[in-house]
Amino acid sequence: MAIERTLAILKPDCVRKGLQGEVLSRIQKAGFKVLGFKQIRLTKETAGAFYAVHKGRPFYEGLVEFMTSGPCVPVALEKENAVADFRTLIGATDPKEAADGTIRKLFADNKGENIVHGSDSAENGRVEVAFFFSSAELV
Ligand code: RTP
Ligand code: MG
Repeated sequence: MAIERTLAILKPDCVRKGLQGEVLSRIQKAGFKVLGFKQIRLTKETAGAFYAVHKGRPFYEGLVEFMTSGPCVPVALEKENAVADFRTLIGATDPKEAADGTIRKLFADNKGENIVHGSDSAENGRVEVAFFFSSAELV
């Protein structure tokens, strides 16, 4: 299996609950190498651009509002089969449907406020890591 990069975002609900360390620890214990992380506050423009693929969907405006509601923590990750393995670690989008032991099942309140983002393909993993990190920040 190929070494891949994937982008996690510890979403504003994760930061509000003080779970950054807890979630990052679980990510590291699952074998992901942390290439970079930083706490930032997204603007409507940045959040809208990041989730542009969802523009027009009924949840889009609420998603942008939520993602700009407080600080979040983008995390650049690397591992063999990183994209699929990370999505297994976090669980289904809706915590009600997420498998036991997954990060969303353990910590998320609902489908909109679901603690963590994960890239959905190796190509998007590369694009999304580059969205938040310059090459000098990936060490
Ligand atoms: P993400 O992109 O954040 O990793 O989540 P995902 O792939 O599991 O889900 P996706 O379909 O890409 O949706 C992106 C985010 O939009 C919010 N959402 N809310 N209320 C709703 O029906 C709904 N559907 C999606 C969630 O925050 C989801 O993670
Ligand atoms: Mg997605």
